[in-house]
Amino acid sequence: MAVPLVDSYGRVHRDLRISVTDRCNFRCTYCMPEDGLAWVPREEILTFEEIERVARLHVERFGFDSIRLTGGEPTVRAHLPVLVAKLAALGVDLAMTTNGSTLRTSAGDLRAAGLRRVNVSCDSLRPERFAELTRRDGLAAVLDGIDAAVEAGFDPVKVNVVCMEGVNEDEVVHFATFGRERGVEVRFIEFMPLDADHAWSAVRVVPGDRILAAIADVYPLRPLVRGDEPAEVFEYLDGRGRVGVISSVTAPFCARCDRVRLTAEGRLRNCLFSMDEIDLRSLLRGGATDDHLAAAVTACVAAKGPGHQIGSVTFVQPPRTMSQIGG
Ligand code: 5AD
Ligand code: SF4
Repeated sequence: MAVPLVDSYGRVHRDLRISVTDRCNFRCTYCMPEDGLAWVPREEILTFEEIERVARLHVERFGFDSIRLTGGEPTVRAHLPVLVAKLAALGVDLAMTTNGSTLRTSAGDLRAAGLRRVNVSCDSLRPERFAELTRRDGLAAVLDGIDAAVEAGFDPVKVNVVCMEGVNEDEVVHFATFGRERGVEVRFIEFMPLDADHAWSAVRVVPGDRILAAIADVYPLRPLVRGDEPAEVFEYLDGRGRVGVISSVTAPFCARCDRVRLTAEGRLRNCLFSMDEIDLRSLLRGGATDDHLAAAVTACVAAKGPGHQIGSVTFVQPPRTMSQIGG
């Protein structure tokens, strides 16, 4: 029988995010330095068998019902469909966050292996700006990847846009139009202090309310009942789909967070912003029993704080960037 994994604030955890690699074929300016980061050596990355064991433990012992694969860029990990098939067999809602650039060739195999949903990150629809932001000339491949995901039968396909003042705020309505026309749900994410060069500042955050107001000016919206996810989702009054905002900074979701994160090298984190990690890889490779692993997972969640406290004077940005955590 599964026992719910509850933290000291009463939050039940049921969503495991697994980074399958820290590597990425993009170099987004807010995520990586221009020359990239020093990649974790291959032998330090969890094997598919190790990942499956951790995932199975979460599902069978603690009743987790949702797993999301992240990176770096998850599709640069060789043989990813093999892992997807192992995790799909656990019977959970299996999703992936990707930069979309390889989906034209990978979407079909991933879908066939049992992946159900994909979120594609894309912060600009202008080729030159996209190239500046990602340091790769990749917009055409990403847009084609979004189409490939829809064609492969992923439902829904969501597009994540990190909205930054003075960078891409002027594209909000263009993105909304794009989502309506392509049949994908666009979700705008407030810029968070997880950037590689620690250049984040509150003035770069475009509040979710401002994003919604800009869209509603052109396409009237009505709110949908909020579910279990960080996004506030709205429906276009004319029936042309949905749009969402994730106000991680101005209206944090922390009080309802149900996530645990496993980094590519096997460290368990209870928050994007946590300073502590639990080294599951040493346990896995040191012959730990499932009971040992379960105790470590329980301790990780028990140590979870109330929330990220961005904006408070005591907030400290964690040393890892998004590509090293998984998003
Ligand atoms: N703030 C908000 N979102 C971020 N992402 C990466 N870095 C940040 C940040 N500092 C997004 C990526 C992707 C997801 C994994 O997280 O663009 O959509
Ligand atoms: Fe790669 Fe995502 Fe980081 Fe961009 S944000 S460099 S796509 S891991």
